[in-house]
Amino acid sequence: MQNKIIEIKKLNYSYPDKTPALSNINLEVYEGQSVGIIGPNGAGKTTLLLHLNGILQGQGSVKICGMQINKADLPKIRSKVGLIFQDPDSQLFMPTVFDDVAFGPINMDMPKEKIPALIEKALNEVDMLKAKDKLAHHLSFGEKKRVSIATVLSMKPEILDMDEPTSNLDPKHRRKLINFIKDSKLTKIIATHDLELVLEVCQQVIILDKGIIVSQGNTKDILSDKTLLEAHDLEMPFSLQ
Ligand SMILES: Nc1ncnc2c1ncn2[C@@H]1O[C@H](COP(=O)(O)OP(=O)(O)OP(=O)(O)O)[C@@H](O)[C@H]1O
Ligand SMILES: [Mg+2]
Repeated sequence: MQNKIIEIKKLNYSYPDKTPALSNINLEVYEGQSVGIIGPNGAGKTTLLLHLNGILQGQGSVKICGMQINKADLPKIRSKVGLIFQDPDSQLFMPTVFDDVAFGPINMDMPKEKIPALIEKALNEVDMLKAKDKLAHHLSFGEKKRVSIATVLSMKPEILDMDEPTSNLDPKHRRKLINFIKDSKLTKIIATHDLELVLEVCQQVIILDKGIIVSQGNTKDILSDKTLLEAHDLEMPFSLQ
């Protein structure tokens, strides 16, 4: 029996302006699973992902690796859950690409001698090693997205919490990322509108709409259900039509 790595019970969240964003979310994810979260704009996908490393904390229970998310455990939880933000400008804040990718390992007290190799490996994974000395704000949007993925890979997390990981990537680098996700044994939670990506890499999929999990199950079954998809502003992937 695999370990339950994420366990969410009765999670509700409204933003400070009272916009309701998540309603009675219950979710269990086992170690090594790859779960897609799909749904229309404003469904609550990003809001849900932000609960997995405690950036947002709603009412209800969120457990990561058996640990209830609370203030005292936040550093530990953040070392386990690597969050790739939907907007790379939210992720990159250091002067150079190298500094951004080094930030996680340095602040997680990894052995100093191991850090340069981790940074190089993470930047190579997204083909951005050549840009290591550049200013992040001089990069193109897709390049920033690739660097923001590297900032998470360098931390060696156990869970990859990815918000639109393929958005703005060119086809070559989208494919490279898909291959990486497929080969990775980590647990992956992927919020995306890229349903072909979900079809390729996720065993399980969840449809969120208006903050509610409206459907959950095997990826191929859900992505083949034209009526269900269209009811939630989604479209059957071309490769299944
Ligand atoms: N900071 C905020 N303050 C108030 N409301 C917010 C805030 N951030 C998001 N919302 C609202 O919460 C709801 C869920 O937004 P969220 O960003 O989680 O959706 P999403 O499913 O990720 O959408 P998208 O597909 O566009 O990325 C929306 O109604 C949105 O308008
Ligand atoms: Mg979003």
